[in-house]
Order: sequence, then C-alpha cells, then structure tokens
Amino acid sequence: MTTAIRASGAPTVRRSDEAMPESYEEFRSWSPRQRSGILRGPDGRLRALLYAQQFDRALLEQLVALAERIRSAEPEGAFRAALSRALRGRAAALYFQQPSTRTFVSFSLAAQGIGMVTEEIRSPERASLVKGETTLDTLLTLAELSDCVILRHDDPEAIERFAWEIHDRGLPTRLVNAGSGADQHPTQALLDIATLISRFDLSRTDPPLTVGIVGDLRRARTARSLSYLLALYPTVRQVFIAPPDLAMGRDLVTALEERGVTLVETTEFDAVIEELDAVYLTRMQDEYGETSETVRALFGNYRLSSERAARLRPHACVLHPLPRREELPIELDRDPRTRHWEAVHRGRFLRMALLLHMFGKDTTDLS
Ligand code: NCD
Repeated sequence: MTTAIRASGAPTVRRSDEAMPESYEEFRSWSPRQRSGILRGPDGRLRALLYAQQFDRALLEQLVALAERIRSAEPEGAFRAALSRALRGRAAALYFQQPSTRTFVSFSLAAQGIGMVTEEIRSPERASLVKGETTLDTLLTLAELSDCVILRHDDPEAIERFAWEIHDRGLPTRLVNAGSGADQHPTQALLDIATLISRFDLSRTDPPLTVGIVGDLRRARTARSLSYLLALYPTVRQVFIAPPDLAMGRDLVTALEERGVTLVETTEFDAVIEELDAVYLTRMQDEYGETSETVRALFGNYRLSSERAARLRPHACVLHPLPRREELPIELDRDPRTRHWEAVHRGRFLRMALLLHMFGKDTTDLS
C-alpha cells in the first residue's frame, strides 16, 4: 500500500496492485486505457471521467438503466424523494471556459436534482485568470472548495493535467469532462448511445447494426466519444462519412481497428445513406482553426436534406449533438426518425446517474 497525503493532511489510500505513473510526463505518455487506473477510486468507481474509453459495457448499461429508472420515476414518489437527498451536503463547481447551453444546464440541474449545491465560472474574464492566475491554479481552487469539478476547456491538456494533479495530491475531488477541445465529450456520447440503445439491439449480428457518423469528424469531440462507446459493441458497423480534409483522426481509426470493429470510411453520404440504421450528424467545428472555402462549400454534401431524408430507411434513427446549423433542417424535427430532442431530454438523467455512480450512491435505495 502506498499513501498520498492530501493537501489538508488526510491520507488517501491507493491500490497497490496497479502500476502508477511517477510524473505527469509519464502519465501523458500512457494511452487513455492505461491511464484509466489512476482515474478510478479504490472502490473501482470512476473518480475522474476524461475519456469514453474509460467505460466498459457493464458500467455503460448500468448508467443507462439507472438514468431510465430516474426518468420514469413518479415525480412525487419515494424514489424521487430519495434522489433529491442522495448527495445533500456535496458541492459541484462547473468551470466552462467554452460556450455551452445543453451540457451546462443539464449538468447543473442534474447535480441539483440529486441534492448538490452548484457554483459556476462561465466567464473566465471575470475570474482571477485576468490577474495572471493559471488555469491550473483556478482549477485547484475549485478542487479545494467543492466535491466535484465539471470542466469544459478548449485545450484537452487542461483536464489531463488537472486530473494528474488531483491524483498526485491525493485530493478526493471528482472530475468530469464536459468537453475537452476537439478531443472528447464522453457524457454527450452517453446520452447519444442511450438513445440508440432505447431503439436498437446494439449486439445484433444478423444483420449487424450500421451507424453512420457524418460531418466534421476530425474536430467533433462528440463524434469521437460516441465512436469509442459504439466500439464496446464490436458487431456495430461504423461508417465514417466526411470530406477528405475533415476525416476522422487516425488515432481513433487505428484504435478501433485494433479492437476488430468493422469500419467503413467514405466521402459519399449519398452512396451509403440507404444502408444506415442510425445517422449521427455533426456541424462544422470552425472554432478549431481555419476551414477553407473549398471545404465549406463541400460541407453541404453532409447535411440531411429532405431528399436525403426521403432515402433513409423507415426505421432509421437520426441524432445530432446540437447546436445545429444547416446539416439538420428544423423541418425534420417532426419526422419521427429524428431523436435529437429526445437525446437532449435524456441528458439530465444520464448525468445524474453518472454523478451518483461516482459518489457511490447508485445503489437501489440510494443509501
Ligand atoms: C457539442 C459540443 O460542445 O461539443 N455540443 C454539446 O455539448 N451538445 C457539439 C458542438 O458544439 O457541435
């Protein structure tokens, strides 16, 4: 057993059976899967959720089932009453350095719905960062003051460095990634896959389920995280549909191939549209750098026009993490195959389920 001394003096016990990196540089050199050991607590629960690869199927399905139970609970019933007390006395600090509507509001309501109090920094220009404080010191302040930090930042390294510091200093604070640059957004992927699970058997083999992921795959963090979660069901055929300059990152393609996932990459949405059981659309992520006029012009081929929607299979399911631009016209909201608003609705309950899990309160009676 090794012990780490918490900043305020209380020792935190670490497991002795897992290799631990000695430094942040060593931690950074490990793959996300290797890193997951130190992102779990001694009880095996997630302490810091950074990447979708930290989920296994059992945990994913457990969270989806708990979220569904919460969603369908009687508003006045005993289960809802127990939920509202589950994390009473705990505080969540939301630090959102990038804009957000759905993720921010659903995390905030989720935390409050299970009894937590919440505080937020949404305008870093009004925090001590303008006095020259580093992002890390700002985050360490939130870690000292709260029980859980929910972080959205444009630099994926911000959350990795913070997770390392939480671990290395032995802090008990939980940490959740609410969007790390163009890299990952694991909780958005949770609610997207939960919506797919409610519609399809993801393990079916005859024929296998085919999911098309469309648009700016190079920079859409939600698409990357969803793809990793879908890979937990290796029979699912993933079809990446993107213009050449916005193709999915090679790191993810290689990781999926190593896991034996059936993967198709194409630039032609029209060539595959009739094969798809589910379509996941994304907008152009132009906040992450220059996008040439040529690519902008091409992007029109990756929208679900009414002509394309007419060619989609009758049972298909259409998702979009939102915000949308032209790729999913509002007229399609009335098409029963589109489920993006249902996914938004699920967001609050999945985030409740995740926080309950992280604090060990996901037992049947929530005790
Ligand atoms: C997404 C995000 O922030 O990555 N939005 C969300 O959280 N639902 C998608 C996007 O901004 O395109």
